[in-house]
Amino acid sequence: MTQFKNIFITGGAGYVGSALVPNLLKKDYNVSVYDLYLYGEIFSDLKSNPNLNQIRGDIRDKKKLIESAKNSDAILHLACISNDPSYELNPTLGKSINYDAFFNVLEAAEKNNVKRVIYVSSSSVYGVKKEKNVTEETSPEPLTDYSKYKLECEKVLLNSNFNGLECVIARPATVCGYAPRLRIDLTVNILTLNALINKKIKIFGGKQLRPNINIKDMVKAYEIILEAPGEKINKEIFNIGYQNKSVEDIAKIVKGVIDDNSLEFEYLPTTDMRSYHINSDKIKRILNFEPKYTLENAVQSLVEAYNNGLIKDGLSNPLYHNIKLMQEINLK
Ligand SMILES: NC(=O)c1ccc[n+]([C@@H]2O[C@H](COP(=O)([O-])OP(=O)(O)OC[C@H]3O[C@@H](n4cnc5c(N)ncnc54)[C@H](O)[C@@H]3O)[C@@H](O)[C@H]2O)c1
Repeated sequence: MTQFKNIFITGGAGYVGSALVPNLLKKDYNVSVYDLYLYGEIFSDLKSNPNLNQIRGDIRDKKKLIESAKNSDAILHLACISNDPSYELNPTLGKSINYDAFFNVLEAAEKNNVKRVIYVSSSSVYGVKKEKNVTEETSPEPLTDYSKYKLECEKVLLNSNFNGLECVIARPATVCGYAPRLRIDLTVNILTLNALINKKIKIFGGKQLRPNINIKDMVKAYEIILEAPGEKINKEIFNIGYQNKSVEDIAKIVKGVIDDNSLEFEYLPTTDMRSYHINSDKIKRILNFEPKYTLENAVQSLVEAYNNGLIKDGLSNPLYHNIKLMQEINLK
């Protein structure tokens, strides 16, 4: 039984949103997507759905954001310059969207009496960690501005106190698997497309540990957080991950699923040293959320989509690679 009916999703036309929005519509939510649609009109099939309201808007446009969030019960804040290279391309722009505009989101929540805000942070706030189990108690050490401002927004949210707002923070692992707006700049996805297209898997580094979450589980986790009673989630932080694997082991999984012995590995150096092993027991303990879909399932979903012609020009199409698109559009 859903306690909130009207869900406002900033950045809902991105990778995660493209899988989440159709799912929430199926569950009878009214969904408003507020997005710049940098990666295109991804919900054309859903245009006639009366429960979907699409608003092309910038979260930096405070007036429009506040107006658009009217009558919302909950806000899920996904809008973001969502990886390190895209952020670093224009740090001033990155900060204005990823940090400054977060105050607009909170003002939209306050002015519209929104009951719950879910802030989507990232497990990359932990940086490099040697310990086996990085829990929500482990002190974050963000290595980049993208991660640093994720953490700063968390602090702002935890200190927000208006209208009895319930707030909750998600720290997802790297998402993987096929979705209508696909990102191929993420570990599992890029290794898979490399294997399919180049018949070779380029491994940058290899020993870094990366936590992963299948997009199907990611969607389920947000649904559960939306439905959870306030007292279980208010002011809580949840790691959301499943299998922690080294980049090299992910490459081996890709090779295993594609089942092509001729696939070669090419090892290349990297400056991306993020390495951490997250523990996601808390969300299981408190919200009874347990991931079901494996890395193998994610790779399989990408292989099927590729074989069905759903992924066009996977390694160079800017629609799948945030940094390429940001370079092309020169967003101001
Ligand atoms: N995908 C992952 O592996 C992952 C892991 C951890 C955390 N996250 C976080 O989850 C969220 C969603 O990630 P994603 O992979 O779907 O990212 P994405 O880049 O696919 O989607 C982001 C969306 O935000 C929109 N957007 C950007 N700037 C905007 C602005 N100023 N106003 C309105 N809309 C704007 C874009 O058009 C895009 O549709 C992000 O906050 C990201 O940091 C993602």
